[in-house]
Amino acid sequence: MNAINDVKPATMLRDLWYFALPASELVAGRMRHKTILGEPIVFGRDKDGKAFALRDICPHRGVPLSAGRMIGGEIECPYHGWRFQPHGQCSLIPSLVEGQDLDASRIRVRSYQIHEESGLVWIYMRENDRQPEPAPAPPRIPVAAGARPRLIEAQDFPCAVDHAVVGLMDPAHGPFVHNSWWWRGKTKPYPKAKQFEPSSLGFTMVSHKPSTNSLLYRILGGDLKTEISFSLPGLRIEHIRAGRYDVVGVTAVTPLEENLTEVTQTFFWTLPWLTLALPVLKPIAKTFLGQDRDMVILQQRGLRFNPPLMLIRDADVLAMWYYRLKKEWQESKGERRDFVNPVTASTLRWKS
Ligand code: FES
Ligand SMILES: [Fe+2]
Repeated sequence: MNAINDVKPATMLRDLWYFALPASELVAGRMRHKTILGEPIVFGRDKDGKAFALRDICPHRGVPLSAGRMIGGEIECPYHGWRFQPHGQCSLIPSLVEGQDLDASRIRVRSYQIHEESGLVWIYMRENDRQPEPAPAPPRIPVAAGARPRLIEAQDFPCAVDHAVVGLMDPAHGPFVHNSWWWRGKTKPYPKAKQFEPSSLGFTMVSHKPSTNSLLYRILGGDLKTEISFSLPGLRIEHIRAGRYDVVGVTAVTPLEENLTEVTQTFFWTLPWLTLALPVLKPIAKTFLGQDRDMVILQQRGLRFNPPLMLIRDADVLAMWYYRLKKEWQESKGERRDFVNPVTASTLRWKS
């Protein structure tokens, strides 16, 4: 048994890529505000349609730039009309008269590195802007080039990032929380053994036939294989192969603030008929994620009293690995050395 005291629950890791928003939410000519890791950020698209992200605070007197408007691919602050280019440089200060030689181009808003691929926008949250080291490669989603998400469901969980991550990777809550008829019904927990291997910044449940006899797996057909990987800071990718078709589920956990965490589930698939089932799948996805969210809300009632918590073998080993990965990430950064994955290949057993 382990106590969860190694890592402060509210620690939000830096120098990692976080899921920011679906690409479809960024429309040319419009801005979108979002707080990520406690930082106010404005997202938009430049004249060429390329996505950008800036600190959502005007360097003049602090007004959110997202409250302004986009003009000719630039952002205009609503207070005094200062304009900023998508990479953050100030291009115009309307109040200046001839002879006032303030160089606007020396004024900058902090810009963030972002990456758009397969309909998803990721943001790199740096620890230190002053000594920028190159960002590592952004997350790779196993879908064909040009693939777009078929279904996206995002919900805000009123909890610190760790409770959202641990809740999503926890195998033992299924029979109690996700017991809707269309998932597993009232099936009693039964023994499972799953094989895990360390993988980049996390671990992978190696490809296997899904053991759950959930209705959703059953309708996908007989010859199923699934591989599930987890990596820091909070990314779970499930890749289901159903004969010659693929279904890829991406669950991304993004801390918005210390006690508010967004969980986004995105699905890609190549089965044509699954798209026809969208009117049924959408409410199912909403209910499923909502079941996790409701439990987190209930959990907050206990956590307010700051109780000691437990992690048990083997059902909570994934959570133990998560905390160890997090700790190693922080230590390797602090000691300026390479990250050494603390996970060892193992078979874990539990009933669920
Ligand atoms: S506060 Fe933005 S231009 Fe003055
Ligand atoms: Fe769940």
